[in-house]
Amino acid sequence: MLRLYTFLLLTLTLTATAYPLASISHINPITIPLARYLNLTGGAAKILENDRARANALKLGSFAKDPAAPVPVANAATSYTVQVGVGSPAQTYNLLVDTGSSNTWVGANKTKPYRPSKSSSRTPDEVAVKYGSGSFSGELWNDTVIIGSNGALTISKQGVAAAIMSTGFEGSNIDGILGIGPTDLTLGTIKDDPKKTIPTVTDTAQTDGVISSREVGVFFAPTTSSDSNNGELTFGGVNPSKFTGSLNYVDITSTSPASNYVGIDQSITYGSPSGTQILGTTSGIVDTGTTLLLIATDAFSQYKTLTNAVADKATGLLKIAPAQYDNLQSLFFTIGGETYEFTKDAQTWPRSLNEQVGGDANSIYLIVGDVGSKSGQGLDFINGMSFLERFYTVYDSDNSRFGIAKTAQTLAICN
Ligand SMILES: *[C@@H]1O[C@H](CO)[C@@H](O)[C@H](O)[C@H]1NC(C)=O
Ligand SMILES: *[C@@H]1O[C@H](CO)[C@@H](O)[C@H](O)[C@H]1NC(C)=O
Ligand SMILES: *[C@@H]1O[C@H](CO)[C@@H](O)[C@H](O)[C@H]1NC(C)=O
Repeated sequence: MLRLYTFLLLTLTLTATAYPLASISHINPITIPLARYLNLTGGAAKILENDRARANALKLGSFAKDPAAPVPVANAATSYTVQVGVGSPAQTYNLLVDTGSSNTWVGANKTKPYRPSKSSSRTPDEVAVKYGSGSFSGELWNDTVIIGSNGALTISKQGVAAAIMSTGFEGSNIDGILGIGPTDLTLGTIKDDPKKTIPTVTDTAQTDGVISSREVGVFFAPTTSSDSNNGELTFGGVNPSKFTGSLNYVDITSTSPASNYVGIDQSITYGSPSGTQILGTTSGIVDTGTTLLLIATDAFSQYKTLTNAVADKATGLLKIAPAQYDNLQSLFFTIGGETYEFTKDAQTWPRSLNEQVGGDANSIYLIVGDVGSKSGQGLDFINGMSFLERFYTVYDSDNSRFGIAKTAQTLAICN
């Protein structure tokens, strides 16, 4: 009830502030490149392990909004990153794009710390964020932030934390995080003021009049190479040239804990839209910080039985033989009354990368994993990047909704 009230209040406030800005129609959305980097040194077992640790942190995060609140762990094996400049003159960082957290910070690479410049002003705040396995803490500065490299998305006085201490990023090429999730996820991250939030980059871009709506469109085309520049993020709208048909919008779910993130309701069937139900309509999240498609333990067992897959020790993933691949059927996701086909090709790990993850060249590994808890707990699936690579999605925080559309790659055969 309190949550509903807060939500209504928030909606009203947002509507009121969004109105004058929305009338400035000459402001076009800004698109910047999104890159993927795969570090497979640790094997796919590490991808699953990292995704699971993150899932646990996401589940816990909502129950403890205090300075020690755990928030999502970064996934060191797979990262989707953007180039971000901070300061004037700007120092450039490679930041992980995260819809599952909302703090922006730099300095994970100790040889590339935050450097105050003439655009920097120190706030009295200290920020501390605990990850599922790791953490960072540091000072909060307000500074100029340039997302992407062409300067179109330049915002001022953005709260950026300068890490003094960070763990869990050792050896990665990530310099920090660009948190683009709901602003409330910053609650509890300021040490002496747990009730204060920090505006996200999307919030600041709107306040500065650089974008007219707090929307972020995400596109990444499926790829079989480990490093790729196949994607883009669009701030302030969407890029219609990247999707087919129309965007289907659904409200952010009201079921906790999914409601704290980019949470939606969906159901999943196997074989056909009216085929075997794997997951009845339930809540979970869409997350750029997760690599695989994770589903509740009971749904996962059913998927394993239907596909005749075996758990593979070497990779940590489900494995099927080529003969079983011939029989593998599509999964169908129903979101807001529309059905989205997730083909057998989409369900497989890129074969050209089999050996890199400790698998053998002739086996087929599946990207569907176990979220680690039974369904009915409010976070029954995580549609990670393996799912997002087949669809165009948008997170619209002005209207507290999520949009999805098919792309030219939805049914593509690329593995
Ligand atoms: C930093 O930015 C916040 C939010 O825009 C603002 O409230 C605060 O006064 C700023 N602090 C400094 C020291 O610039
Ligand atoms: C890749 O991952 C391994 C194991 O997790 C780590 O030791 C290594 O430093 C990483 N390398 C890069 C360049 O990210
Ligand atoms: C850390 O930053 C330094 C300086 O820019 C760079 O040479 C080094 O490669 C970075 N480390 C990683 C793991 O990306």
